[in-house]
Amino acid sequence: MQPRDQWTSNLGFVLAAAGSAVGLGNLWKFPYITYANDGGAFVLVYLLCILLVGMPIMMAEIMVGRKTQKSPVGAMKEAVGDAWGLVGGFGVLSGFLLLGFYTNVAGWTILYVVECLDWSTGGFDSAQAGGDAFVGMIQNGGLQVGLSALFMGATVWVVSNGVSGGIERAARILLPVLFGILLVLFFNSLRMDGAGEAWGFIFRPNFSELGRDGVLEALGHSFFTLSLGMGAMVTYGSYMARRDSVVKAAGWVVILDTVIAMLATIIMFSVIFSQPGLRESVGRSTAGMLFITLPELFYTIVPMGKVLAPLFYTLVGFAALTSTVSLLEVVVSYFIDERGVSRKKASLICGGSTFGLSILTGLSFGAVGGLSSFEIFHEEAGLFATLDHFVANWALPLGGFFLTVGVGWFMPKAVTRAELEDSGTPGFVYPVWLFFIRFVSPVAVGAIILAVILGEADFN
Ligand code: TRP
Repeated sequence: MQPRDQWTSNLGFVLAAAGSAVGLGNLWKFPYITYANDGGAFVLVYLLCILLVGMPIMMAEIMVGRKTQKSPVGAMKEAVGDAWGLVGGFGVLSGFLLLGFYTNVAGWTILYVVECLDWSTGGFDSAQAGGDAFVGMIQNGGLQVGLSALFMGATVWVVSNGVSGGIERAARILLPVLFGILLVLFFNSLRMDGAGEAWGFIFRPNFSELGRDGVLEALGHSFFTLSLGMGAMVTYGSYMARRDSVVKAAGWVVILDTVIAMLATIIMFSVIFSQPGLRESVGRSTAGMLFITLPELFYTIVPMGKVLAPLFYTLVGFAALTSTVSLLEVVVSYFIDERGVSRKKASLICGGSTFGLSILTGLSFGAVGGLSSFEIFHEEAGLFATLDHFVANWALPLGGFFLTVGVGWFMPKAVTRAELEDSGTPGFVYPVWLFFIRFVSPVAVGAIILAVILGEADFN
C-alpha cells in the first residue's frame, strides 16, 4: 500500500474544506430560504446555529478524521467503537444520494455561463431568460443528462488526481478566484439603488416574522452549508497532518463559509430590490431566484452587468465543483481505504454510478412523468425533491446527531482533550466544546429530528 496522501499544509486543508462548505448551499439555497423566511430574524438564528451547533460539530468531525487518518467508516470504528462504523456507512450512502441531485443544479451553472457569454456578446433576449425558458431547460431530459455528465466528468477528474494533486490544487485556484469575483460583485452592489433596503432586510431582525419552522430550517441549513452530518469533514480531516490545529482549521472554515454566504445574499438582494415591483414576483419562485430572477437583472439594471453576469455564474459553478468534489471524495475514500480499490478506479466507478443516479434525477423535472410526480414525502413530488428532502431533513441531521453522541459521550475525555488542545489553544476551548458537543448540539439536533418526525417542519 502506498502511504496515505495528505494536504501540503494547514492552508491546503482550510481551502479544500472551505471549498466543500462553500457551494450551492451558500449561493443558491441560503439566499432563497432567507427570502422565504423574511430575512433579519432568520439570519440571526442561522448565525447562532452556525456558532453554537455547527462549529462544535465541525471540530468533532475534523478531530475524528485527523486522529484516525481514516475515512468515515474506519474512522468511526476506531475512534468510537465498531458499531459506530454504521454511522460512517450511513454517511457514505448520504454522500452518494446528495451528489445524485446536487450535480444537476451544478450542471445548470455550465449552461448559464454559456448563455451569459452569448447574451453579453450578442445582446440579451428576455424571452430566453424568464421563468418559461428555465422550465423549458429543466424539462429537457437530454440537456439535463448532458450537463450532469459534464459536471460529473470534471468532478471525477479532480478526485482521481488525488488529495494534494487534485482536490487541494483545484481549491487553491478556484477559491481565491471565487472570492475575488464575489468581492467585485459586492463592491458593485453597494452602489445599487436597492442596497439600503437589502441590508435592512438581511440585518434588521423582526421576530414576529419568524415561526418555529424557520428556526428549524436555519438549524438544518447550518448542517448543509458547513458540509456536516455525513463524514465529509471526517474525510478531509483524515488527510490532515497531526501538527495542524483542529480548532484553528475549523474556525477558518466556518468563518469563510459564513462570510461568503452573507456576501452572496447581500449581492443578490441588492440586485433584486433595485427593481421596483420585483419583490412580489420573486415570492412565486424563491427557489428559482438564482436562475430566473437574476439573469434578467444582470442585463437590465446591474452596472457592468454584461461583464459581471458570466463571471457570476462561473463563480457559482466553481463553488459547486469544490463541493461535488468533497461529496465524491467521501464515497471514493471508502472504497480506497476499506476495499483496497485504486483511486483512479474508485473515482471512475463511484462517479459513474452517481452519474447513473443523476440521470434519473435529471429526468425528474418533468422530462419523464413517473419520475417527476411520485410522492414519498408529502408535497415533495418527483425524485429530485424526494432526495433533497430525505438528505436535508433526515440523513444529515441523523448523521450529525449520532456523531455528536458518539464523540461527546463514547470517546474518552482524555483522548478528545489531547486532540483539541495544543500549545496555541486557549484553555477555555476544550471545556466549552465538551459542553456543547454533549448537551447543546444533541439537544438542538434532536429537536430538528423530532420536529420532522412530528411533521412540523419542512426545510427545503
Ligand atoms: N456545503 C455544500 C454547500 O453548501 C454542500 C455539501 C458539500 C455538503 N459536501 C457536503 C453538504 C457534505 C452536506 C455534507 O453547497
